[in-house]
Amino acid sequence: MPPLHFAQRMDHVQPNAIGELLKFGADPELISFAGGYPDGTLFPTRQLNEVFQVAILERGAQSLQYTVSDGDPKLRNQLAARVTRLGTPCAVENLLILQGSQQGLDLVAKMLVDPGDIIVTESPTFLGALIAFNPCQPRYVGIAMDEHGMKTDELERQLKAGVRPKLLYTIPEFQNPSGVTMTAERRAHLLALAKTYDFTILEDTAYRELRYSGEAPPTLKSMDSEGRVIMLGSFSKILAPGLRLGWAVATAEVIGRLGLLKLAADTQCSTLNMAAASLFMERHDLDGHVQVLRAAYLRKKELMLDMVRRHFPQEVRCTDPDGGLFTWLTFPRGFDTARFLREQALGKAKVAFVPGAGFFPQQEEANHARFNFSGQPDEMIIKGMAALGALAKEQMAHP
Ligand SMILES: Cc1ncc(COP(=O)(O)O)c(C=O)c1O
Repeated sequence: MPPLHFAQRMDHVQPNAIGELLKFGADPELISFAGGYPDGTLFPTRQLNEVFQVAILERGAQSLQYTVSDGDPKLRNQLAARVTRLGTPCAVENLLILQGSQQGLDLVAKMLVDPGDIIVTESPTFLGALIAFNPCQPRYVGIAMDEHGMKTDELERQLKAGVRPKLLYTIPEFQNPSGVTMTAERRAHLLALAKTYDFTILEDTAYRELRYSGEAPPTLKSMDSEGRVIMLGSFSKILAPGLRLGWAVATAEVIGRLGLLKLAADTQCSTLNMAAASLFMERHDLDGHVQVLRAAYLRKKELMLDMVRRHFPQEVRCTDPDGGLFTWLTFPRGFDTARFLREQALGKAKVAFVPGAGFFPQQEEANHARFNFSGQPDEMIIKGMAALGALAKEQMAHP
């Protein structure tokens, strides 16, 4: 076989931890806290079965046909109304249906980022976003976070020093991986900086609806008077990730351009899945379902944090998020969580988590780990975290 001459962008497309995580999720022997899996036992399977049947048996000719690349017009309308009702004014021409919000990360980068352009992210940030942005060959600037979200003072310092981002990517609520939420003050500061230094903000709200305590600050998009913010949302964490449905909210011009890129990428989302999601919203209580998820995930979070406090060495700290699916553990400096996973956790405790290093866009820090608390049943959280805590104690006592 002659050698293939790959495009330069393929230098930036490398095997990554997400592929590994999906493998962990598929191994029945392993207790995996690695993937961002919602609790599969809470999927509304009966209602989804019903709406898929209606979509096929009663509306098959339509639901199985091609449709427009912007997405099923009815679902678009329903989503625009829902986004508006939840506090972010959105007309139908401001919304595009996507193959999960992951597609939004890919298309927005394609639309805005040339090789060498700067993308600012929180540090750490969602690995899947870095993977989506990498083929566009950006340079990254990571901004540290504290318990109030991205340190916008630090961002301002960098901007004053000459950093000129094309795009800033943020997950303002229950950030993946840290679980932290950005305060309203920081959001206002960020928007002011975007205006002064003329960059676009990509606001990823994948977890926003999964709030189980505290008040929700307004979305950046709802505070955006200039059309600088592109907001992404998703059905993955509030209904089912297997549907692969998400959306982007932006100016009509940006939605039009993203629609062209979507047409090039995959023509459209599954007509059948869009029809089912639309019927689900029409016939069932999506808000009520989200309430059920919130209560269940709050309980699971409390259980996981309790297990960390009881079984892990005292020096290990974890975040206590008001929502979402993750807590972020910080071990003492010098402790390498990737090595701990490889050499101890997987073999001895049969437990998986995500080592923190891959979440850092620039300087990696090896002493963190992301734990998902939604995907495993209670007894597995208890068993897995007790075993892992004991191993961590042993490892830290005898490094
Ligand atoms: C912050 C964040 N954004 C986007 C996604 C992509 O989700 P999906 O494509 O399923 O909507 C995820 C998935 O875990 C995520 O954590």
